[in-house]
This record gives sequence, C-alpha cells and structure tokens, in this order.
Amino acid sequence: MSDVSRQTADTPNAADEQTPQPTAYDLIGGEARVRELVDRFYDLMDLEPEFAGLRALHPPSLDGSRDKLFWFLCGWLGGPNHFIERFGHPRLRARHLPFEIGISERDQWMRCMAMAMQDVGLSEDLQMRLLQALFQTADWMRNVAR
Ligand code: HEM
Repeated sequence: MSDVSRQTADTPNAADEQTPQPTAYDLIGGEARVRELVDRFYDLMDLEPEFAGLRALHPPSLDGSRDKLFWFLCGWLGGPNHFIERFGHPRLRARHLPFEIGISERDQWMRCMAMAMQDVGLSEDLQMRLLQALFQTADWMRNVAR
C-alpha cells in the first residue's frame, strides 16, 4: 500500500481510536477566545436596540454577567469547570426563574450569540453546531407562555 492510500484509508480510524477528539473549547481556541466571545455577546446586548428587552433583564453593570457566562461556557464547551468550582451545579433553569423568559427573550439571546460568534470569526461549522446545542438550552429556559 502506498503512503497516500494508507493515509486516506487509515487516518480517520486511527484518529478515532487513539487520539481524543478536540473539544469545542479547543476548536474555539481556548480561554482567551471564549472570553472574547462572551465580551462581544454582552457588548452587542448593550449596543443593539433589538436586544433592549434582553438587556433590561440584566443588572445595570454587566461585569458579573460577563464573568459568569464566561466561566459557565468554558465548562459547557469541554474546557475547565470554572463555574462549577465556584457555584456548584449550574441549575441553569432554576437560576433563570427570577427572569420572565418567553420566545422573544429566547430568540434575542440566540440572535445576540449568533452575531457575537460571527463577529469574533468562529468557523461556520462551529457556529452551526454550537448554536444548535445552545438553542436546546435557551428553549429549556423558557418559563412564561408567550
Ligand atoms: C433564553 C434566554 C436567556 C435569558 C433571557 C437570560 C437572562 C439571564 C439573566 C437576566 C441573568 C442574570 C445576570 C446576572 O445576574 O448578572 C442570567 C444569568 C446567567 N445566564 Fe442566562 N439567559 C438566557 C439564556 C442563557 C443560556 C442559553 C445560557 C447558557 C448557555 C445562560 C447562562 C447564564 C449563566 C451561567 C448565568 C449566571 C447564573 C448565576 O450564577 O446566577 N443563559 N441570564
């Protein structure tokens, strides 16, 4: 077997069996890139009139929100569990119960995140995969029927 055919025939299997697949955290580029994404997300929430309703649910200063979402997403993406180390189990739905979250809030959150991913230059493929997974979480956070 030539080297070329060996590569095409063997590399995918060898990679599956021996090398751990990179996590989404690795694919994004680690902690600094996750922070960049979260910062862009909250900058857009602050700036864009279409997110005014979502912004109004948050405290006047977004500093704490930035840290918490950053810590959470690091672990959610397969990186270090900063959020759990600080606060224990995320109990994300319970933590969102104080805020009225319906379809409009869910969709603003998703659109804001999609714009942030685009702005920081995540690959199309990664954007699609992450947005699909995040939609499940965002939809599950809905707690009012409207
Ligand atoms: C569905 C629409 C959503 C709305 C309207 C919303 C809104 C909020 C608000 C108002 C806060 C409080 C901010 C603060 O205390 O500084 C918060 C906290 C938080 N949100 Fe969301 N959120 C949504 C979806 C999500 C999603 C999809 C995630 C995760 C992927 C997420 C992760 C978090 C985390 C980790 C916190 C901090 C929780 C804590 O420790 O209190 N949120 N969210």
